[in-house]
Amino acid sequence: MAEPLIRMQNIRKSYGRVQALVDANFHVNEKEIVGLLGDNGAGKSTLIKVLSGAVPLTSGDIFIRGKKVNLRSTSDAIAHGIETIYQDSALVTQLSIARNLF
Ligand SMILES: Nc1ncnc2c1ncn2[C@@H]1O[C@H](COP(=O)(O)OP(=O)(O)OP(=O)(O)O)[C@@H](O)[C@H]1O
Ligand SMILES: [Mg+2]
Repeated sequence: MAEPLIRMQNIRKSYGRVQALVDANFHVNEKEIVGLLGDNGAGKSTLIKVLSGAVPLTSGDIFIRGKKVNLRSTSDAIAHGIETIYQDSALVTQLSIARNLF
């Protein structure tokens, strides 16, 4: 079977003594839409921040189409086609969804 489009393997992220992610594994295949669900504080945002290069991982590996990548910045992630649209803090409620996306 083909390698997933994105594979995150044994991802750990610590903020000092807080372990936000411990051995998290996640993958997305080509042409697949994935919803990430979990309790408050489960680590969803942290996982996405790691994938989008916004925060450095403590340990673990990220592969894109089977090739290991080192996402040190959001620019690195964007260069691999990974971008994040953040939730409400960046939205203007008076504008349409389309304008907000723009
Ligand atoms: N910058 C930070 N400094 C210290 N601890 C953090 C930081 N960011 C997140 N954490 C901690 O890491 C853990 C995971 O947080 P995260 O925000 O990833 O969870 P979440 O699944 O997105 O939660 P929510 O559903 O509330 O958005 C929590 O214990 C949180 O308090
Ligand atoms: Mg969150």
